[in-house]
Amino acid sequence: MRKPKIAVVGSSSMDLVVTSKKRPKPGETVLGDSFKTVPGGKGANQAVAAARLGAEVYMVGCVGRDDYGNQILHNFKSNGIHTDFLQQVPNEKTGTAHIILAEGDNSIVVVKGANDLVTPAYVKKARALLESCDLVMIQQEVPEETVAETAMLCHTAGVPLLLNPAPARPVSEKVIAQVSYLTPNELETTLMFEGKDRSKVLKQYPNKLFITEGAAGVRYFDGKEELLVPSFPVKTVDTTGAGDTFNAAFGTAIAEGKDLKVSLRFANRAASLSVTEFGAQGGMPLRTDVEKGLLE
Ligand code: RIB
Repeated sequence: MRKPKIAVVGSSSMDLVVTSKKRPKPGETVLGDSFKTVPGGKGANQAVAAARLGAEVYMVGCVGRDDYGNQILHNFKSNGIHTDFLQQVPNEKTGTAHIILAEGDNSIVVVKGANDLVTPAYVKKARALLESCDLVMIQQEVPEETVAETAMLCHTAGVPLLLNPAPARPVSEKVIAQVSYLTPNELETTLMFEGKDRSKVLKQYPNKLFITEGAAGVRYFDGKEELLVPSFPVKTVDTTGAGDTFNAAFGTAIAEGKDLKVSLRFANRAASLSVTEFGAQGGMPLRTDVEKGLLE
């Protein structure tokens, strides 16, 4: 089978991860247990996950000319990702994500740094690449105008675009119309479609809107009925990157021509495996692991 060709337009950051038994309240200081730096950023995570699942992946992004930037570039290369459009920019630091792992979940503050230089003009430079892909993926740690430009470019070229609207911010009707797949989690859904009934929103976007509900699975409307494709129970170590793994696996399966239900099940399995190890990319599975996991 030919490998699907996927471009990821998005963020590449270094994750600075603290583990602690207790999450500090505002104004409180607590003592933590460990500190680690690991590659992250929603775009980079999705690129790495898709590559491990067998896609030919091209990263379109920016990092600084600093140690974190060098480490991220090295990480892309060791995961077999094409980096012709991964620019190391002067005068801007590599993005960082400041993560607290406590009480069974994470909280994250992202400082975008060089990710803000993934501009519409930069995406236009990668136009020929994007037009040659089976699928493009994008998230929201790059500027809003970049998402709009990528949506227009993909729509015009007839290339499916998967928009993972994370972190949440309003997305215009025009952009929603131009993307093929939209994958908010529950919180992002509430913020994007404020005050609207979830089932009505799902009905408005059949086979386009996929709401990820963590351990419960993923919900969508198939044109006839609302469906919940259930997730797989596992022992969770770290949920960071689970959404990225879901998106990458879903995108990879779709780009391979698999149908929606099969793609969603594949994505749920990949995401469930990803949470069994520390770090956003630490538990991202290989294709063989997902296929084996689907048989269990
Ligand atoms: O989705 C997980 C990612 O979000 C982390 O790797 C961190 O970089 C934040 O951007």
